[in-house]
Amino acid sequence: MDPSPPPPPPPHVVIFPLAAQGHVNPMLKLAELLALSGLHITFINTEHIHHRLLQHAEVQARFDAYPYFRFKTISDGLPMDHPRPGDYFTTTFNHIKSITKPLFEELVAAPGQPVTCIIADGIFTFTIDIARDLGVPIIAFRTISASSFWAYFCIPRMIENGDLPIKGDEDMDHIVTSVPGMEDILRCRDLPSFCRVSDLSDWLLQYVTTQTLQTTRARALILNSFDQLEGPAISQIRTHIPNLYTIGPLHSHLKSRLSSSPSSPPPPSASNSLWEVERSCISWLDEQPPKSVIYVSFGSITTLNRHDFGEFWQGLVNSGRRFLWVVRPDSLAESCPGAVQEELREATAERGCVVGWAPQEEVLQHGAVAAFLTHSGWNSTLESVVAGKPMLCWPFLADQQVNSRLVSHAWKLGLDMKDVCDREVVERMVNGVMGERKEEFAAAGAVLARRAREAVGEGGSSWDNLDRLIEDIRSMKT
Ligand code: UDX
Repeated sequence: MDPSPPPPPPPHVVIFPLAAQGHVNPMLKLAELLALSGLHITFINTEHIHHRLLQHAEVQARFDAYPYFRFKTISDGLPMDHPRPGDYFTTTFNHIKSITKPLFEELVAAPGQPVTCIIADGIFTFTIDIARDLGVPIIAFRTISASSFWAYFCIPRMIENGDLPIKGDEDMDHIVTSVPGMEDILRCRDLPSFCRVSDLSDWLLQYVTTQTLQTTRARALILNSFDQLEGPAISQIRTHIPNLYTIGPLHSHLKSRLSSSPSSPPPPSASNSLWEVERSCISWLDEQPPKSVIYVSFGSITTLNRHDFGEFWQGLVNSGRRFLWVVRPDSLAESCPGAVQEELREATAERGCVVGWAPQEEVLQHGAVAAFLTHSGWNSTLESVVAGKPMLCWPFLADQQVNSRLVSHAWKLGLDMKDVCDREVVERMVNGVMGERKEEFAAAGAVLARRAREAVGEGGSSWDNLDRLIEDIRSMKT
């Protein structure tokens, strides 16, 4: 009898994120979800990010557990010991752009593992033509909210409608009517930060507009969101990009799939962190009364100047509340005056805890944490939604301006202190989310957390959408 033919190799998906914490984190979660369903994954990382990611031994061990998962590292164009200040993104972006074609050619030509499709960060629109020329289907992944993506998409309409350019400070509270589905929500103040220009030929505005419209040329779009959270924006995007997969919140979706698959590795404890995680803050939280702490973190990119740092500091101290504050080693734009540092230490001993990097998902789920003072990065926002925790938002740039408005006005899950950094406002708003309005926000948080759970549970919208995405990938010819 002839032996039966060997089974065909699993589809091979190449995943290509921008080299930043807020992008690598959700794209790794997606990669793991696909690996869990038996797909062969090549995850492209810059050497610098890879080195930082793998400082945590458990990260290597976790991905080693998948037989068809591998990392492929590339240079970001800078020496490993370069300090990489905030503006290194442009250098790196241009370098990556210049090496993508040979990189894809090499991956496609590798014997024995033909590439089925590429899932590239939606910021890398240059990948679309390169993949198409090689005959490989390409799917875009945007790490921002659906509402922000939709706002970016509507920039040409905003210009046509006269909402842009913003006329000046007096125009900031003008309601924007040219973003269908979000007519009651957005003021000029809530538009993405790069819309705040008087000259419409501004390069960043032009670049983001073109880049966003280019997404329609990809085979599909993946968003880290769920239908019950951002329904209006999601249905609008679907009219332009029918092949839309909303499969978030990814961190929660991964946990849901892992727990329904008994042989899988335990859920990851940290958010694929690029910094050393200070777990001492969890022991500190364990000693605090239930719902007594405000967690403060401005994500992985935001830098505070001396004034803003001082105002947050004084506002937090004056609020009389307990707090856990993440102050990354590189989060101060200038060195902090000694007096503030001294005060920081004193107040820390009394009712605060300051760390360089926290296990954020775990912190937000902790019973001692009542609320989150955040820069409204999309990953942080989703993590807070999943934990049902109210937010006090201080958006810094880009999509964060839209996200904070969703929190305060669409979901009524907190307060937005956009464009203001003043100790009295911080104090009042911290007491608002932790005191006067805590019941109202807790109720909204419980509803959203339940909806998030349902979306990523078996038969939920994100669960079903991921199944459809996997079917779509399996149907692609290599
Ligand atoms: C950025 C943008 O702000 C965001 O809107 C976009 O979608 C992705 O890129 P970032 O500013 O870093 O990301 O914020 P955020 O999206 O909130 O991502 C930060 C991640 O770092 C979160 O997953 C958070 O859990 C993690 N984190 C942050 C930690 O694990 N520990 C910390 O101490 C701080």
